[in-house]
Amino acid sequence: MKIKENQNSFYGISTIKRLSLYVISDKVMNLLRPLSIDTPHARKVYIETYGCQMNFNDSEVVLSILQKEGYRYTERMEEADVILANTCSIRDNAEQRILGRIEQFAFQKRKRKGVLVGILGCMAERLKEELLENSTVDLVVGPDCYRRLPELLQLCEVEGKGIDTLLSREETYADIAPVRLDKNGVNAFISIMRGCNNVCSYCVVPYTRGVERSRDCGSIVREACQLFENGYREVTLLGQNVDSYRWTAGDGTVVDFADLLAQVAAVNPLLRVRFSTSYPSDISDKLLDVMASRENICHHIHLPVQSGSDRMLEKMRRKYDRAWYLERVRTIREKLPDCGLTTDIIAGFCSETEEDHRDTLSLMEEVGFDSAFMFQYSERPGTLAARHYPDDVPPEVKTRRLNEIIALQMRKSEERYAAQVGTTQTVLIEGPAKRGEGDLCGRASNYMMCVFPGDGHKAGEYVRVHINAATPATLIGEIE
Ligand code: 5AD
Ligand code: SF4
Repeated sequence: MKIKENQNSFYGISTIKRLSLYVISDKVMNLLRPLSIDTPHARKVYIETYGCQMNFNDSEVVLSILQKEGYRYTERMEEADVILANTCSIRDNAEQRILGRIEQFAFQKRKRKGVLVGILGCMAERLKEELLENSTVDLVVGPDCYRRLPELLQLCEVEGKGIDTLLSREETYADIAPVRLDKNGVNAFISIMRGCNNVCSYCVVPYTRGVERSRDCGSIVREACQLFENGYREVTLLGQNVDSYRWTAGDGTVVDFADLLAQVAAVNPLLRVRFSTSYPSDISDKLLDVMASRENICHHIHLPVQSGSDRMLEKMRRKYDRAWYLERVRTIREKLPDCGLTTDIIAGFCSETEEDHRDTLSLMEEVGFDSAFMFQYSERPGTLAARHYPDDVPPEVKTRRLNEIIALQMRKSEERYAAQVGTTQTVLIEGPAKRGEGDLCGRASNYMMCVFPGDGHKAGEYVRVHINAATPATLIGEIE
């Protein structure tokens, strides 16, 4: 009940307002004619992406919007007329890295007249006008305003600067076919929803990405079909909390995440389907049953636990406790015995004691995750935690606890990967392995990376790989 009140008050604050927008003058209107794709002087755009898979997919949407207006994509910053950074605010070190990078963009601006630098994504949303105070930054565009990018870029050329950070309750970019930036033509991301309605007290995401909204189910299935026709063999359905996906079709039928997953899996048996991220209190038995019933839905769940201590989980405003999480893991393993399980863990959240920390270690010991993303708590301005709880675990204690968590996870990963030796895995080939002449790599259904001699096979094919050896992050085998 308490959590609900806080949620309401969060939405009451309303980040959903137009903070600043440069008004379009008549002289600018003349410039807003789209450039043709064939224009020899088409402006070249370069984009760097930081943070999560959602951001990566957003960059593909941004390029699609700009290409339609005649911009050309370049992988070389040195030849770009427009340099964009799609940014992440999740932890302070992510932001510091990007601020450092902006200094390097400044060098390009000094070297070549007319180069524009734009900051997109979560940092744009969080810092807004503050970013424009840096003379290198010309453009600041939040995650829900990408349709306005061509217009804002042209505005920049005339007025010097452009900004839009309005958050939306509806925008899902459902009608935009992302330009695919993946290198292998085998796996692609599909965003199925945007924003987040949870208010985990440490997390900046609800403030930078706004309220949760689900994308039209039909447009998701169509995108999956299109990708399959173009040769892709794996799609990952993306959302901050995929289990709360909900779409009401024209005839009133409600499609939940389990229904959506079944529909995408029905596109073709040769199209593998993955998803991320699940939320422990929302992951349903219905979803697990759908996963068990279709060969091409991968048996892997990324289920962030954050902490093993009930006191910390409550303070983090996660909506489950340790017992609930462990019950979900038991059910997953009952229904999907071969399911890969990965997680996120935060060390040193506000007031965390040694006992709380030991609870996290014992939960990790009990579950045995295949792998984990592990972080030190980083206070984010404006979040519930920043407003209500002191960031009082000393940095050296956070580091020591994180190191203990990492060491334990290494041991668990080693065990989990070693347990696959002797099994045979169905692997979708992604391409050449980083090391090993002639070796190929690809993932097993449980998300473990496999490396094996190529034997004339190529990316996009499925092979059965017998596992002979393992490291804590790779299975090594040969095609049967
Ligand atoms: N500090 C450290 N880690 C964080 N995460 C989110 N916010 C913070 C923060 N303020 C982690 C969580 C989340 C993952 C995407 O990032 O573990 O699941
Ligand atoms: Fe952040 Fe929690 Fe939403 Fe994940 S579920 S994005 S941690 S608020």
